[in-house]
Amino acid sequence: GNSVRVGLLGCGTVGEAFAELLVERRGAIEDVTGISLELARIAVRDPGKPRSAKLDSGLFTGDPYDVVKADDVDVVVELIGGTAPAGELILAALNAGKSVVTGNKELVASSGPELYAAADRAGVDFFFEAAAVAAVPILRPIRESLVGEDVTRVAGIVNGTTNYILTRMTADGLGFDEALAKAQELGYAEPDSTADITGADAASKLAILSSLAFNRSVAADDVAREGIVGLDREDFELAAQFGYVIKLLAVADRFPGDTGDEAGAQIGAQVFPALVERDHPLATVRDSFNAVFVTTSAAGELMFYGRGAGPRPSASSILGDVAAAADHLRRGTHRRVPVGAPAAIRPTEDLEYSFYIR
Ligand code: NDP
Ligand code: HSE
Repeated sequence: GNSVRVGLLGCGTVGEAFAELLVERRGAIEDVTGISLELARIAVRDPGKPRSAKLDSGLFTGDPYDVVKADDVDVVVELIGGTAPAGELILAALNAGKSVVTGNKELVASSGPELYAAADRAGVDFFFEAAAVAAVPILRPIRESLVGEDVTRVAGIVNGTTNYILTRMTADGLGFDEALAKAQELGYAEPDSTADITGADAASKLAILSSLAFNRSVAADDVAREGIVGLDREDFELAAQFGYVIKLLAVADRFPGDTGDEAGAQIGAQVFPALVERDHPLATVRDSFNAVFVTTSAAGELMFYGRGAGPRPSASSILGDVAAAADHLRRGTHRRVPVGAPAAIRPTEDLEYSFYIR
């Protein structure tokens, strides 16, 4: 029939919010799409831990292969995080013919092409909208609405934790550690928040965004990065005095290259703490909100804005991917993720409205 069974790997900050949202919204999704989504199994590290009362305790297992290999699972949602064992589990699920949805930017930025190929071989979907700017639909618009476009720049704020920390340090004079602790409490930070504050999380997201936008294979290591560690009160005061706010920017440009043709295109990608003019839209992006400008030759500039972190906003994006994958399963189709040629990497150029802080 039109029932699609969902298996979940990981039921922590984001996984639990996703499972609850699925249970809450499944009736509405069925009304709109005609597909009934069933939460079939949930794998966690410790099945003995107390879980949300909204989730049937009989769904939990301590063995993730109970989910990825199960006959009664059609779509696997990976929300464990990290590269291992998440990578092997996703591959096993794809090879078993299951569509996979993940929010794991670290994994997609490091092993994307291998996973896209496995999904294509199996004729299933591999979706990861929540891996870039959590709640904001940006990867699907880039892949679908802008497929005919010539994208030349992707630039903005792509990490909620650091934007929250910078906002609180600027607006409330909070110390770095206190602001980070609050971001962790609100569920914005990565399981290991080092990835957030060093710019590594933003670099992974910029690699994913620029790979799809420019149709070039850009890895996280191709992104030059500096995080927000070491910024202090004086930096914020000085910035304010001169009419700027401090933001962690992620900027990727596609340059024509020396030969001026498509094949010679070069990419510059960088994550850095920047002084942004107080009146620029990016300066007004606060707390866990993120914003990305996409510049194209025909459309001009597009702005994508919304919550870039947090359990419910992330769950929203994952649920959208699950519904899309379920619809494809019903139609017997899937959407291939294109893999561009490796990018020639070069330094980025300054933006008109901001400059590097140090
Ligand atoms: P958590 O650490 O809160 O949750 C991880 C979950 O995975 C836990 O339920 C844990 O089990 C389970 N788990 C760990 N190891 C295994 C294993 N070997 N087998 C089965 N289950 C396992 O992580 P988050 O929810 O914070 O992050 C999950 C993912 O979501 C990450 O990839 C992150 O980057 C991504 N993400 C996060 C966003 C956010 O705003 N926070 C936004 C977008 C994406 P147990 O409960 O028993 O400990
Ligand atoms: N830790 C990430 C952030 C989660 O703060 O942006 C969303 O990807």
